[in-house]
Amino acid sequence: MVYDPYKIMNMIKILTLVAIMLLTVAGLNAYNLKTSKQEENKSESKNEVMSMKGKKILVAYFSWSGNTKYAAQYIAKKMGADMFEIVRKKPYSKEYQLCTEEAKAEKEANERPAIKGKVDNIAQYDVIFIGVPVWWYTAPMPLFTFLEQYDLKGKIVIPFCTAYSGPSSTLKDIVKATPNSEHRDGICLITKEMGGKGMEKQNAKIDKWLGSINF
Ligand SMILES: Cc1cc2nc3c(=O)[nH]c(=O)nc-3n(C[C@H](O)[C@H](O)[C@H](O)COP(=O)(O)O)c2cc1C
Repeated sequence: MVYDPYKIMNMIKILTLVAIMLLTVAGLNAYNLKTSKQEENKSESKNEVMSMKGKKILVAYFSWSGNTKYAAQYIAKKMGADMFEIVRKKPYSKEYQLCTEEAKAEKEANERPAIKGKVDNIAQYDVIFIGVPVWWYTAPMPLFTFLEQYDLKGKIVIPFCTAYSGPSSTLKDIVKATPNSEHRDGICLITKEMGGKGMEKQNAKIDKWLGSINF
């Protein structure tokens, strides 16, 4: 092979041109992929805003003294939703101190206490609000009995709770217990009272929250 600087220069030019063309094509592909993904996301969130309105909704809740029941009823009325109350077959003591002891023992043993009744045709619901009081930093055990009875795959689960001081892991634990569902941000309503007293002060907070998750 004879050394020919002219031929070598031409080769370099051709290779440079090919490299530029390849890079341009790759760049265009990446741009197209990005914009079509952005469009997809945009229309997904549009669907979300629109479709929430027509969805069939259930509000399932457990309540010992009435605070969570108030919130559940308020949400259900606003949403035109059905309700299901989770009730332990063997009732907890009506006396606060005794109830806390029963609840603590049940939590420590990770029990699944028997509950009354079942939701009628759970398959009909698209969205399920799940409400509980915080008990010993999580949900009362009957909630887990309830959740383990159903296949909530593909449903939108939205947790809420009422508490004296804070949610601790309650909202997260409801999400964890429904791994095949979609979720929306939950809310914890803090109240120093019991028996549903003063709960109407929470209405505005509930309204704002529902708005923030597109209801
Ligand atoms: C057994 C028991 C355990 C509780 N544990 C907690 C707790 O860990 N953290 C908290 O902030 N409040 C705790 N509370 C307070 C309740 O979460 C709060 O009063 C709630 O709003 C009651 O809801 P209800 O009226 O629907 O039963 C506990 C109450 C009871 C009866």
